[in-house]
Amino acid sequence: MTADWPIYLDHAATTPLDPQVLEAMLPWMQSMRGLGNPSSTGHCYGQHAATAVEEAREAVAALVHAEPAGVVWTSGATEADNLAVLGAARFAGQRGRGRHVVSCRTEHKAVLEPLKQLEREGFEVTLLQPAADGSLTVEQVLQALRDDTVLVSLMHANNETGVVHPIAAIAEGLRDHAAVLHVDAAQSAGRLPVDVRGWGVDLLSLSAHKLHGPKGVGALYVRSRPRLRLEPLMFGGGQERGYRPGTLATHQIVGFGKACAVAAAGLDADAARLVDLRDRLWSGLARQGGVQRNGRLDGAPHILNVAFVGVHGEALEAELQGLAISAGAACSSAEAMTSHVLRAMGVADDLAQSSFRFSLARTTTTSEVDRAVAQTADALERLRAFSPAWRRYCETGAPMQGGAPGNGFSPGGSKG
Ligand SMILES: Cc1ncc(COP(=O)(O)O)c(C=O)c1O
Repeated sequence: MTADWPIYLDHAATTPLDPQVLEAMLPWMQSMRGLGNPSSTGHCYGQHAATAVEEAREAVAALVHAEPAGVVWTSGATEADNLAVLGAARFAGQRGRGRHVVSCRTEHKAVLEPLKQLEREGFEVTLLQPAADGSLTVEQVLQALRDDTVLVSLMHANNETGVVHPIAAIAEGLRDHAAVLHVDAAQSAGRLPVDVRGWGVDLLSLSAHKLHGPKGVGALYVRSRPRLRLEPLMFGGGQERGYRPGTLATHQIVGFGKACAVAAAGLDADAARLVDLRDRLWSGLARQGGVQRNGRLDGAPHILNVAFVGVHGEALEAELQGLAISAGAACSSAEAMTSHVLRAMGVADDLAQSSFRFSLARTTTTSEVDRAVAQTADALERLRAFSPAWRRYCETGAPMQGGAPGNGFSPGGSKG
């Protein structure tokens, strides 16, 4: 990182490649021994590559406690989500099992957009309404089930707020129902324990670049025992049990496997450190007063979403050029609209527009967090000095709209 670049606190968007991952990947791009097509197993080049791919499959499966045979390589979590949602619903729909799907309003667009496609194909989609703190209850999910429900798709940790859905309990509740359970674990894998087999999850999406692996590779876990079947999205060479044909990108897959092995080895220690850093960040920001935490205190360890009262979001963004943070989700920022996640939680538009996601990783330092707090405090002081909304807030102490009571609202007012 060059010294004049902003402090990178956008790790929910993507994480830096771990040096061990790069080292594992290089031979697969640099040497003749890394040349083989993993499907060309008639000679040692292909066999060598195939062995590396299978070792990576084991490492990815181990991180989420899945059987290696269930791992299907994809280009990332977007493709995994599409394959899961479209593939599972279409497979069931075509066999007359039903055309109803349950999901939530706070899901990633990589799930919500395929759901819209299913609606165009005649499926009915129930999108659950989360509470003001972004949470869902098991009862809400179970009450939405119908006899013709073929798929429930819910993320583990939300990419904007870090809110964690009770996947183990939801899976348990679904045990006697025929619906397939898909979980988008792009943000949680490598940061929180994920136990595919223990929980009884049928489909699980993963992305390498969210956990210090390379961009452009991910996986969909597809339960293999008993075998779950999907309609493929692509047709071709038959790789990956026919679910994802195409020559496998050995270097990417090897990197993903290494990233999962490193994440698994450090999971508990990294998570504990991230919680400390995130809490340090939150208490530093909360000291400024007039801040609201969007989400819950018990969310994923790397994400903190904060609304700043009395400032215009765009003005604050302009003042915070020293920080690489995200106003809303990175994936939807191009759409220049209020975050659909915060809107679903009932956060008022003005507060949603002055909300920022700070996201950390194991590479984040205490000094970066402290500098981020100091820069934000300076920016708030500058902007609030001329803000009628801030003055009004300080005079009336009017509570901000939206958000959950007890979710860390900090009335403050110390900075006039
Ligand atoms: C929860 C979630 N799902 C899916 C994706 C898409 O992942 P990818 O970039 O691997 O396609 C993201 C990325 O922002 C995400 O956070």
